[in-house]
Amino acid sequence: MTAPLLKVEGLHVGFPSKAGVVQAVTDANFEIRPGEVLSVVGESGSGKSVTALAVMRLHPKSTQITGTIEFEGKNLLDLSEEEMRHIRGRDISMIFQDPMTALNPVFTVGDQIVEAIRTHRDITKEKAWARAVELLDMVGVPEPKRRAAQYPHEYSGGMRQRAMIAMAISNDPKLLIADEPTTALDVTVQAQVMEVLHDVQEATGSAMMLITHDLGLVAGSADRMQVMYASRLFETGDLDDIFYDSRNPYTRALLNSIPSLEGPKSALEPIPGNPPSLLRPPSGCPFRPRCSMAIDECKEKTPELLTIEGAHASRCHRVGDFEPMSAGATS
Ligand SMILES: Nc1ncnc2c1ncn2[C@@H]1O[C@H](COP(=O)(O)OP(=O)(O)OP(=O)(O)O)[C@@H](O)[C@H]1O
Ligand code: SF4
Ligand SMILES: [Mg+2]
Repeated sequence: MTAPLLKVEGLHVGFPSKAGVVQAVTDANFEIRPGEVLSVVGESGSGKSVTALAVMRLHPKSTQITGTIEFEGKNLLDLSEEEMRHIRGRDISMIFQDPMTALNPVFTVGDQIVEAIRTHRDITKEKAWARAVELLDMVGVPEPKRRAAQYPHEYSGGMRQRAMIAMAISNDPKLLIADEPTTALDVTVQAQVMEVLHDVQEATGSAMMLITHDLGLVAGSADRMQVMYASRLFETGDLDDIFYDSRNPYTRALLNSIPSLEGPKSALEPIPGNPPSLLRPPSGCPFRPRCSMAIDECKEKTPELLTIEGAHASRCHRVGDFEPMSAGATS
């Protein structure tokens, strides 16, 4: 098997506050291999973005962070800020939910892509500009020559996100992190931007960590999935493991909360209750207050992430007690 491109081991991320430490990521272990698409899903606040920002080393200075984040065998947490700057935007680049936070309103889109290229490569402005136009064309920005000379506010939301994607791939990164890249867009534009992202990933062969809380979005575009809940990985596996053989009540509830892939839209059932506080997590399984399968043991003991088979693992005391799932549906 190829060596992993990214290997995260025992990652803990905590944010100190007056009231105590907000434990945003607890003991995360995962890998991404070259060219692989890993999707990270979970409700709001489960630690998806914090995990991604830790990989980019973009967390605030005061953050308590332990574990290792190996990229091509190097622990990113040991690198100096200077060394990290060489990696960020070149080997690993990130697409954010809101492109306006990443695009600078006072420079043209073309200039920003040129800047992104020239930060890491010694090429002339003219060549970089030609490359920027090519990249905009590749992500489906119409009339790319003219559009390159425009400012971000002259772009629609969907076009801005395409421009962000163009910028993110401008140095052929080995790993692309997309954090909810389409949530700010309306539904039809979401689908188009996802398609662009998917095509770009295939064309460049880069690996991708795709963060979303929309499980439907993942269905066609990931190799592997990991489900996060209350700072922890709750289930990981190949797409089929998660969609057709999930061994985790949280994942199953999450699948139930999206319109069924095949069935009627009325199947939508939001998960009742809220995730626990990350400041003072309850003892036992963090999903227990919302879990229809909870037993006494769940109150006392936090479940470990147990391997079921191959890449499939689940954090649940009752991994052995699940009924088979019907296609796309849940228990
Ligand atoms: N800089 C920070 N300081 C303090 N707490 C933070 C900080 N960043 C994130 N958190 C907290 O860490 C937890 C995990 O946040 P994170 O942004 O990773 O959630 P998420 O899974 O990305 O959610 P969403 O789907 O809403 O984007 C949340 O409780 C959040 O409030
Ligand atoms: S460990 Fe218990 S509470 Fe947690 S998900 Fe499994 S059955 Fe539910
Ligand atoms: Mg987030």
